[in-house]
Amino acid sequence: MSSVSCCASRASFSRLEDFESLAEKRLPSDVWEYYSFPSDGFTLQENKRAFQRYRLLPRVLRDVSTVDTAATVLGSRLDMPVAISPTAHHSLAHPDGEKATAKGAASANTAFVVSSLANYSMEDIAQAAPQGVRGFHLIPQKDPGRTTELLRRAEGAGYTAIWLTVDHHGRPASLMESAEGVRLPNLSFGDAPMEFRSSEFNAYMRDNLKKPVTWDDVVWLRKNTQLKIVLKGILSAEDAKEAVKVGVDGICVSNHGGRQLDGVPATIDALPDIIRAVDGKADVYVDGGVRSGTDVLKALALGARCVFVGRPVLWGLACNGAEGVQQVLQLLKEQLKLAMAQAGCSRVSDIKPSLIVHESYYLHGCHCPGS
Ligand SMILES: Cc1cc2nc3c(=O)[nH]c(=O)nc-3n(C[C@H](O)[C@H](O)[C@H](O)COP(=O)(O)O)c2cc1C
Repeated sequence: MSSVSCCASRASFSRLEDFESLAEKRLPSDVWEYYSFPSDGFTLQENKRAFQRYRLLPRVLRDVSTVDTAATVLGSRLDMPVAISPTAHHSLAHPDGEKATAKGAASANTAFVVSSLANYSMEDIAQAAPQGVRGFHLIPQKDPGRTTELLRRAEGAGYTAIWLTVDHHGRPASLMESAEGVRLPNLSFGDAPMEFRSSEFNAYMRDNLKKPVTWDDVVWLRKNTQLKIVLKGILSAEDAKEAVKVGVDGICVSNHGGRQLDGVPATIDALPDIIRAVDGKADVYVDGGVRSGTDVLKALALGARCVFVGRPVLWGLACNGAEGVQQVLQLLKEQLKLAMAQAGCSRVSDIKPSLIVHESYYLHGCHCPGS
């Protein structure tokens, strides 16, 4: 079994859930609740349960004496097809916040998508790990001049992609005392550094953010930046086709880790229809509920080019800062490597739809959605 040693606890961790348990012990309860929200959500649980409904059908007698997990994502060569989704407020997990996450991601040679709600500026995060591959999660502003300013900052700081999250409708996750006063420098313009104080923050979000954000904004974005564009939060094949039509480079099948509309499908279940709809005209990624190397293998077999993780990285950060982030990623990589070898795949390109079967095939004789 793969394991990494978590220096912070002097323990050998063989499952992401080991990081989760330690993070729960270490974090103040309001931060833990914010990261875990909504603990009783159907979709949150379904994201994880749905992976268990797919079975792997390994191939045998292949030479897997070496296994290479390297993958190319949006033109960048990564050591593994696993990268970091944007999540807010990393300094609640560790004082070095997103700077530590960027270092952990760069040490694992994978990509990190920085949230607009990061507690360090996008420039400071880039400087903390200049060799890292980074995307920036953009929140469009009412004033297009301010949105353009954010784009120019991301371009200037070496970000390679703009991620537009399209499934955020302001469902509040309660975040209390611990967040009072934390900085939000990527929502600041001029000399006024924005700080998180619930009432001011809510007023800022109400008065300054562009609402509604529509397909016209994606078209605007396409015209106003040379960076790659990824739409995050697509669940329907129709929206995926529209995204291709307006010229995005990537689609991330996501339900915000179950934090927005509850009752939507698990992302791994939504993935096959979107792969079919996109038909190779853009990269397709997936996040939500990925907790092991076999989950990664299943998502790749269904056609995802890369898998992203949100909460597990926050757990690693809370346990052991930059090293903890690297350890979480390393564990996923080791688990993926082992799963690939056991499935007869020596390279990521060997991972095919024929490797995966939905349980309904065995229970009811149905066809696999990936085939
Ligand atoms: C604490 C927290 C904060 C998040 N903040 C953002 C955000 O600022 N922007 C965004 O697009 N998604 C955000 N997300 C959603 C993640 O990008 C991602 O879709 C989700 O965490 C994936 O599910 P997982 O946590 O099961 O891996 C957040 C998720 C969590 C848990």
